[in-house]
Amino acid sequence: MPTYITVMGQKGGVGKTTTTINLANYFFHGLGKKTLAVDTDFQKSLSNQRVDETWNEKRKSFDIKTCVTEDSDTLHTMLNFFEQNYEVIIVDTPGKLKTGLSTYLVEISDLVLIPFRPSNKDIKSNLQLVDAISNVFGDDLPVYGFFNMIKAGAKETEQLREFTGYRCLKMLKHMVRDSVAISRQNTYDPVHRDDVQQLFDELNHILSCQAQKIQS
Ligand SMILES: Nc1ncnc2c1ncn2[C@@H]1O[C@H](COP(=O)(O)OP(=O)(O)OP(=O)(O)O)[C@@H](O)[C@H]1O
Ligand SMILES: [Mg+2]
Repeated sequence: MPTYITVMGQKGGVGKTTTTINLANYFFHGLGKKTLAVDTDFQKSLSNQRVDETWNEKRKSFDIKTCVTEDSDTLHTMLNFFEQNYEVIIVDTPGKLKTGLSTYLVEISDLVLIPFRPSNKDIKSNLQLVDAISNVFGDDLPVYGFFNMIKAGAKETEQLREFTGYRCLKMLKHMVRDSVAISRQNTYDPVHRDDVQQLFDELNHILSCQAQKIQS
């Protein structure tokens, strides 16, 4: 079975697709894992990116499949078909995800990752999502959040550090800054990985600990 990671969030434009691409680059180029990214968003930002880059089949990168559906059975069938070929599968989701689909994705995921923009409005709406997940599955779940697009020298950064979690949500220690490099890094090429390296190392450590727990 591959490791499943779903990137979700209640808001549009928080960095879900950027995170999916960077994370897939991390596993594929950084850790040498057979990696698939799945695009479930009707906007198809993840899939279109590859088209925009006038993709050359010979370029080495993680694989990508598009499955835009509101039906969890359809997604399940697709994932079942592909999963034996991969060690890591990362699912990118739209800003407004149907309850049936989000429930299914939480169920199959080894880790759910939620990017937070550092604004009260964004935090509030993501916490509604966390409530919805906790109400169905309880508070003991691998749901992790991180702050994305942190402005350099912003006063509220220290305050954000005090927010460590809520119900099933645990905040990752590392934050990702708002940087042109990261916005440009929205690409299949492994450039500027250092910006997100620490966050993903933290996440990979959590996954390793989880796997060890299951084995013992
Ligand atoms: N840390 C960052 N620093 C600078 N720009 C960023 C960062 N993270 C994401 N962005 C930029 O923010 C914009 C929105 O990001 P992205 O498309 O990944 O969000 P999304 O949550 O997938 O949006 P949607 O809900 O529309 O699918 C993009 O232009 C992306 O390049
Ligand atoms: Mg997106």
